[in-house]
Amino acid sequence: MTKEIDIKDKIFEIFISEDEISSIVHSMANQINNSGVKDPLFIAVLNGSFIFAADIMRKINIPNCEISFIKLSSYLGTETAGKVNELIGLGKNIRNRNVVILEDIIDTGITLEKIMSLLEKEEVADIKVATLLFKPEAYKKDIEIDFIGKSIPNDFVVGYGLDYDEIGRNLPHIYKLKE
Ligand code: IMP
Ligand code: MG
Repeated sequence: MTKEIDIKDKIFEIFISEDEISSIVHSMANQINNSGVKDPLFIAVLNGSFIFAADIMRKINIPNCEISFIKLSSYLGTETAGKVNELIGLGKNIRNRNVVILEDIIDTGITLEKIMSLLEKEEVADIKVATLLFKPEAYKKDIEIDFIGKSIPNDFVVGYGLDYDEIGRNLPHIYKLKE
């Protein structure tokens, strides 16, 4: 495996290998499978979580599970005062569903908080949160995270869906910014 890679102006070094990612994803899937969640609707947050979602879904064995994808958009509304966030892709009625959010990484928690508040408006029955990576030192919210793959230091990481300026999502391993 390549120990170091260059992306644009930065150097990244290997941090979590493909094999380690695979065992983390497997163990998260086991936890979700054993959590007792019924007829779950998984909602993967694009773009970053597309690879994680594809991998973990193949290890979920809960009956009647579904998956959907959302993207958060922010824009300057014409009828509202400031920035509004919207869930793109949430086309169907999810009222009373047991939702499991799939995130690639939770950093400050700002994105998660927005997603939670938008989903609560949809009157879902329950929301659980699963994230592959979590940065506890950066987290500023008190929303409980139900399933955490790996807690990492406050380093910038790329690969396995995560990008630096849109580059690096295709890398099979996760790399961190070299100091
Ligand atoms: P948060 O809102 O601060 O929790 O961060 C949300 C988003 O920032 C994540 O969904 C990622 O898209 C991005 N992000 C945070 N940390 C990293 C990182 O280390 N590498 C790549 N993207 C990151
Ligand atoms: Mg993301």
